[in-house]
Amino acid sequence: MNVLFLGENVGRCGTGALKYGLKTLKQDLAIDFTVINGEGTSMGYGIMSDHVKLLIKAGVDAVCLGEKSFFKIDIVDNIAKMDKVLRPANYPETVPGTGLRYFNVNDKKICIINMLGMMSFQFPHLNNPYLYAEDLVKKAKEVTPYVFFIFHAQATAEKTSMGYLLNGKASCVIGTHGKVLTSDAGILSEGTAYITDTGRCGSSLSVGGFDPEREIYKYSTAVPVHSKECLQKPQIQGVCVSFDETGKAQFIKTVIKDVLLEN
Ligand SMILES: [Fe+2]
Repeated sequence: MNVLFLGENVGRCGTGALKYGLKTLKQDLAIDFTVINGEGTSMGYGIMSDHVKLLIKAGVDAVCLGEKSFFKIDIVDNIAKMDKVLRPANYPETVPGTGLRYFNVNDKKICIINMLGMMSFQFPHLNNPYLYAEDLVKKAKEVTPYVFFIFHAQATAEKTSMGYLLNGKASCVIGTHGKVLTSDAGILSEGTAYITDTGRCGSSLSVGGFDPEREIYKYSTAVPVHSKECLQKPQIQGVCVSFDETGKAQFIKTVIKDVLLEN
């Protein structure tokens, strides 16, 4: 089974890259299932339900979120009805949505677990993922050998530690949030595929998908203005992972695809 894990989608540039580039990419890599982090889809700040539909129309099968899950009130109202969207599983149980979902892929069942890290997030402060991750993976393994753990976290060491915690338990531990594709994709000793960050879908000539001038202004002045989405040089970034019948990873490779947006 070949699965494409895409980096965070940032604004119209990322959504356009997916619209015009994802289907070909999936065909080229013989992809069976596609997962993305979608929390930057609505101009970099959260995601609205109409934008979820655009990602699905472009060929995405599951949309994970992170600390920006509920930036748009529309998603608070609608996430419970969206069967392809996951918010982090370590939100309180009373929060709408879920962080663990099963999907059918061809004749197999897979599980996706989405969790949020702790370091450097001013808000929200969720339950410690290290205390819950193993139990959730164990529960999922009773249903399917294919358990894909998507860890949305800031610190590199935090993500790598989760990789080792779940080594041999989850099929993969895939990091998101950094919006920079890291070069440490590999398979850990017990067959778990790992990467610290899957990068972004969006402008590759930008600061994490945002306009560099605006980011420089923020750092220079400490004035908390909104970041501005950047439209230069659209790219799809992520990793392709192949899993065997037992759910163990066979190979992982990074994916970078430049996309020309049609008029
Ligand atoms: Fe994030």
